[in-house]
Amino acid sequence: MSNGVSSHPEEPARPETPRHVAIIMDGNGRWAAARGLPRGEGHRRGVEALRRVVRASHELGISYLTIYSFSSENWSRPATEIGDLFGLLRRFIRNDLATLHRDGVRVRVIGEREGLEQDIRALLAEAEDLTKDNTALTLVVAFNYGSRQEIAQAAQRLAREVADGKRAVETITADTLGRYLDAPDIPDPDMIIRTSGEQRLSNFLMWQAAYSELVFVPIHWPDFDRAALEGAIAEYARRERRFGGLAAKTGS
Ligand code: FPP
Repeated sequence: MSNGVSSHPEEPARPETPRHVAIIMDGNGRWAAARGLPRGEGHRRGVEALRRVVRASHELGISYLTIYSFSSENWSRPATEIGDLFGLLRRFIRNDLATLHRDGVRVRVIGEREGLEQDIRALLAEAEDLTKDNTALTLVVAFNYGSRQEIAQAAQRLAREVADGKRAVETITADTLGRYLDAPDIPDPDMIIRTSGEQRLSNFLMWQAAYSELVFVPIHWPDFDRAALEGAIAEYARRERRFGGLAAKTGS
């Protein structure tokens, strides 16, 4: 299935368009249950929503889209559902990678790779490597990701440098720690959307979310589409971003 992302956005980026949108794609299970369908069907329809949103993000002039695909805590789900989610990731990369690449999408992956099956690790690496020079849209896939784990790993690496005598404790600032996170070159999200009505971050980008606008939408992820994304952007545009100061700034 084509994502239909063109190399030229239909509309130029406007100041009120967030440069980086991150999404907690929630509600697949409830969407399925409401229709008497297995949860896996909700996840499958969730991948279709993801394709729509990748296309719409580029058309609307968004530069970075981060999606929460599998959290460190999702391991507590039944093995069959974990198998479904891994199967969907495999299929998503195998079926959609060529299209994403053709459309100029750069794929980045954040999260813990160790502990993932070798074929999944190879697919993630292939997606990153093939698309590394693309510039139309950066799609950051958070897979086996947890924000506390990411921050703890950054702290471990810094502590190791101190223990090895390569760094003085006083050099560790918030900026330093930020540079040791999984994707330090990606700007912080301007807006984080969570679907399905839940209102929490659930261990997603907690460091990077310091000044993000949080937008909660009541619809379940499989029903999310361009119109819903535009609605979230309109909500974002109504917010006044101050970054701890007094005067409103655009943040970009
Ligand atoms: C939350 O719904 C969604 C997830 C845990 C996974 C999101 C995954 C996809 C959209 C498809 C996979 C995409 C890729 C690229 C792997 P939920 O199951 O928590 O829903 P519920 O809260 O209604 O039960």
